[in-house]
Amino acid sequence: MGKLIIRKALVNDLAQINVIEHSVQPVPWSVEGLSNEFFSRSVRFWVLCPSDSISKVIGYICFRIVTDEVYLSNIAIMKQYQGLGYGTFLLKKALYFWTQNRFKRVTLDVYKKNYQAISFYRHNGFLFACAPDESKGKFCVMEMKLSQE
Ligand SMILES: CC(C)(COP(=O)(O)OP(=O)(O)OC[C@H]1O[C@@H](n2cnc3c(N)ncnc32)[C@H](O)[C@@H]1OP(=O)(O)O)[C@@H](O)C(=O)NCCC(=O)NCCS
Repeated sequence: MGKLIIRKALVNDLAQINVIEHSVQPVPWSVEGLSNEFFSRSVRFWVLCPSDSISKVIGYICFRIVTDEVYLSNIAIMKQYQGLGYGTFLLKKALYFWTQNRFKRVTLDVYKKNYQAISFYRHNGFLFACAPDESKGKFCVMEMKLSQE
């Protein structure tokens, strides 16, 4: 893995984020959806960049803070950088931030057929909030309880 930085997303990053979103997500957000998330006051939107080229976005994560819980609304890594540990790196940084800020739980919705993402979340400690075949609709909920040290 090359040297990476994680920084706050900027308005200028939205075009690159939109390209990644539409090339990797099975159910991509629209430009408006990404933009609404970006401008929402309760959302943190971070991007992952090579440290020698910090305007190049290779991945992103965004999450919503709702009192003492976190809702992980999106995470993605550019196709050619997938499977190299970048997604885990980004999620681990977010997990550190959530734990430091004493949030109690993280939840997310994942498309039931997005086996890659489900495998990724399980690998990183998320559990199904209820069995996918018991949840209605195309998405299922996963969660992680955060330790309070
Ligand atoms: C899901 C995603 C963010 C994971 O990022 P990544 O950098 O590719 O993942 P990592 O390299 O950190 O993989 C960590 C673990 O996740 C699992 N995983 C990752 N890609 C996988 C795949 N294609 N198939 C099965 N498991 C996979 C594995 O357990 C892997 O561990 P291993 O390498 O020891 O086998 C990325 O694949 C992605 O952008 N997917 C499209 C967008 C998306 O679906 N986002 C989630 C929306 S809810």
